[in-house]
Amino acid sequence: MLIKTHEDLKKLSEKAKAALEQYKSRILVCAGTGCVANGSLKVYDALVKMVKEKGLLVEVDLVEEVGHDNVGVTKSGCHGFCQMGPLVRFEPSGLLYCKVKEEDVEEIVNTTVVNNGVIERLLYEDPNTGEKITTQDENPFYKRQVRVTLRYCGRIDPENIYDYIAHRGYRALSKVLQEMTPETVIKEITESGLRGRGGGGFPTGRKWSFAAAQPGPKKYVICNGDEGDPGAFMDRSVMEGNPHSVLEGMMIAGFAIGADEGYIYARAEYPLAIKRMRKAIADAEAHGLLGENILGTGFNFKIHIKEGAGAFVCGEETALIASIEGERGMPRPRPPFPAVKGLWGCPTIINNVETLANLRYIINNGAALFKSYGTATSAGTKTFALAGQVQNTGLVEVPMGMTLREVVFDIGGGLRDGKKYKSVQIGGPSGGCLTEENLDLPLDYDELLKVGAMVGSGGLVVMGEDTCMVETAKFFMGFVQNESCGKCVPCREGTKQLLALLTKITEGKGTEDDLVLLEELAQNVKAGSLCGLGKTAPNPVLTTLRYFRDEYLAHVRDKKCPAGACQALKEYYIDPEKCKGCTVCARVCPANAITGDKKQPHVINVELCLKCGACMEKCKFGSIIIR
Ligand SMILES: Cc1cc2nc3c(=O)[nH]c(=O)nc-3n(C[C@H](O)[C@H](O)[C@H](O)COP(=O)(O)O)c2cc1C
Ligand code: SF4
Ligand code: SF4
Ligand code: SF4
Ligand code: FES
Repeated sequence: MLIKTHEDLKKLSEKAKAALEQYKSRILVCAGTGCVANGSLKVYDALVKMVKEKGLLVEVDLVEEVGHDNVGVTKSGCHGFCQMGPLVRFEPSGLLYCKVKEEDVEEIVNTTVVNNGVIERLLYEDPNTGEKITTQDENPFYKRQVRVTLRYCGRIDPENIYDYIAHRGYRALSKVLQEMTPETVIKEITESGLRGRGGGGFPTGRKWSFAAAQPGPKKYVICNGDEGDPGAFMDRSVMEGNPHSVLEGMMIAGFAIGADEGYIYARAEYPLAIKRMRKAIADAEAHGLLGENILGTGFNFKIHIKEGAGAFVCGEETALIASIEGERGMPRPRPPFPAVKGLWGCPTIINNVETLANLRYIINNGAALFKSYGTATSAGTKTFALAGQVQNTGLVEVPMGMTLREVVFDIGGGLRDGKKYKSVQIGGPSGGCLTEENLDLPLDYDELLKVGAMVGSGGLVVMGEDTCMVETAKFFMGFVQNESCGKCVPCREGTKQLLALLTKITEGKGTEDDLVLLEELAQNVKAGSLCGLGKTAPNPVLTTLRYFRDEYLAHVRDKKCPAGACQALKEYYIDPEKCKGCTVCARVCPANAITGDKKQPHVINVELCLKCGACMEKCKFGSIIIR
């Protein structure tokens, strides 16, 4: 079906919306990567089969109206609460079932679909209160979130263009093409205060105005979906859960700067995101929403997908351009900035997936509403991949300015297994490790920079008392050292030396002089590197040195790891007060390091101990500790 005019789009949108409202109930089974890995497609297939057997199912065809008693079963994108997946959500009630298995489907159909009942055991149980939570909106994980980018992720079928259109899809593009000029679009985005969500936080409207001012005729829009930060999956979820919002954003950006072509750069490790983006492109083209003379306005736009090979550095804009051009993905000095000389030498804007997915909201609802979320200098909302030792891990979206405490404790539910909070690592390999004193810090671009961290693309790892901060700095240094492209010496050699120093310290061979060297080298790598990778690589080291210096000192002075995490510094010790002399530990020790008479306290010879932990695991009396 071709949508040739604004009126066609409006009519289709209203028709599809009316069709959705006709459903008695719509069941959304999460088909995001996490839930698929946990068997959600089997749940989906079983649900479709059983609902059909009951004569209740209508195939989802939102162009045709459906009857009032019908039940729709739909695959959706990620709901964010992947830890509890596979998730199944019921509309309009908002009932949310967690960890659903194929075996649960019969009961779900009989109890919930047919009789509107609730199955208690499939509800989320708040680990802090033991309370069973019925709906998604009441769930503490979702309650404090404000979903703008993720608004329809988990609510629509990402592979059905009509579902997107039913939710005002492509209406922002229509508004832009019908009512606005490139100048007024840039003005609106500038006024919204939107800053790039890819890490740097550069004002989007300002970036566009540079590209718009360049002479044409050829310009490009690139969507950066490389997402190389370990543990991050914000952009993947948007591409998987609402791919048309990314296409619509790219077209709005294209109209604003005068571009007629775009590229989506997504890593090949994201096969589902790529599949859904490809389908969205094909569907948008088939409906005339992408291609020539869009909505009869004379605006043309085509979009290609470029699969990246998964190098972190290829997320850097100049390396990404080189990669699209078929060159090795290595950054080049700027200026010239891509807005002036980008892809194939033409003016190009590069925006992150999340930045682009925000555009339809701003155009549809106005800059003022977007700006009403967030802080004076960081408008809107931001998605974060909440990971580590919190109770609730997953993808969250919060207004900027929310404090770390609110994210970690109110949304994340605090730490797991009664652990004490120690630190949060924010901003991925370019970010920093913050302390308990920073918990009331607002999540805002500028506030985080002041304390040596950064919002980055949105990685947020929560760490408990048993995490060693030197080891954490070493982990991130290992990552960037591995990912350094090797073009410039400060990064190529500096990250290697920083990693060697951190390894030396975690092995108990470091000195206080090494700490001085570590800090000096980190500052030099920061100052002398060519691109953002090297410039920010030392951040985890510098913030841990700043906030957890005592821990470094314990490693170098006392040869102890206070968190008991560094293998080489572990000292296994038998508490003579607790030891019953059962001899079990001596029998499992592979190094014959344990001696003692039966029914007498045993002793570990630290010279012989291999620190394997076998004795501690076997002792039923908890007599063995690490000190
Ligand atoms: C090493 C490195 C990796 C990066 N990776 C990404 C990435 O995966 N996704 C992204 O959007 N931006 C990434 N960036 C930032 C981009 O260079 C660029 O600033 C961003 O895509 C611009 O989009 P925005 O203004 O919408 O944030 C990276 C930067 C560096 C230095
Ligand atoms: S800073 Fe590192 S990643 Fe960037 S160009 Fe230099 S060597 Fe390559
Ligand atoms: S297993 Fe535990 S209780 Fe038994 S001898 Fe070893 S330390 Fe003592
Ligand atoms: S940690 Fe391993 S090597 Fe050391 S005393 Fe225990 S069992 Fe033996
Ligand atoms: S993949 Fe299902 S909730 Fe994230």
